[in-house]
Amino acid sequence: MEPLQVEAIKKTFRLSKKQRKIERTDLRKKVALDGVSFSANPGEIFGLLGPNGAGKTTALRCIATLIRPDEGDIRIGGITVRNHSAEIRRKIAFLTSDLQLETHFTPNYLFAYFSRLHKVPERTMTVRRDALFSRFGIDAFREVKVADLSTGMKQKTSLAISLVHDPPYIIFDEPTNGLDVLTAKTVTDYLIELKDAGKTIILSTHILRVVEKLCDRAAIIIDGLIKDEGTLEELVSKTPDGDLETLFFQLVEESEASDHV
Ligand SMILES: Nc1ncnc2c1ncn2[C@@H]1O[C@H](COP(=O)(O)OP(=O)(O)OP(=O)(O)O)[C@@H](O)[C@H]1O
Ligand SMILES: [Mg+2]
Repeated sequence: MEPLQVEAIKKTFRLSKKQRKIERTDLRKKVALDGVSFSANPGEIFGLLGPNGAGKTTALRCIATLIRPDEGDIRIGGITVRNHSAEIRRKIAFLTSDLQLETHFTPNYLFAYFSRLHKVPERTMTVRRDALFSRFGIDAFREVKVADLSTGMKQKTSLAISLVHDPPYIIFDEPTNGLDVLTAKTVTDYLIELKDAGKTIILSTHILRVVEKLCDRAAIIIDGLIKDEGTLEELVSKTPDGDLETLFFQLVEESEASDHV
């Protein structure tokens, strides 16, 4: 398997009047990604760590071919995402809180539906579904409509559904959001198994502990720019106390200072 490479991607959004109000700006454009590059290798969990609004979801949406970068390129398994979205989507699992599950349907129905979309054979689907549902504790509510599920149950369902086609590349946006510590551990343990099975995993998070516990390498993204990148040891080696939090705050402060010059 080849790596997943993000090469100098840029993305600028036009802001509507409403968005300008939310962002408290008079500017008509927002540069969400200002030339972002990183790569993740097979058998590795790569973390994109950054504060709210840093550009994490935007970067992952570009990788998942949901939006197109204005500049730069992304290669997954040697294929550029440009004009290959169908091929790319077969190779990736994508999870984000922006994607809402259809509320009228049950986890069982949705798993079968997405399996068919991905042309997963019926028998494989059944085996995979039962394994994932039991793993994530979905069995108890597999016949309950999504509308009646809690946030955590919905998140678990989304996770299982994103994996219907057992793809080699896994792109998870804040995968443990809304999960209690037990369920979060189930998810992180599962990600480690997927990594050990040779999958390429990219996850975004604003939680330092997730990076410390789970990621082989990480990049710190602030204001659409990668401020630092490396293994955990490499990242913390630059701080006096060897603490990722120290580095994170230092980079945020530097970035804020450069905004005010
Ligand atoms: N569709 C859009 N239209 C306009 N602006 C957008 C759009 N999507 C994202 N942005 C802006 O781009 C910036 C980056 O957003 P993004 O959602 O990628 O951040 P994030 O790192 O995922 O943040 P969070 O931790 O809050 O999820 C933010 O300023 C956001 O308001
Ligand atoms: Mg986000």
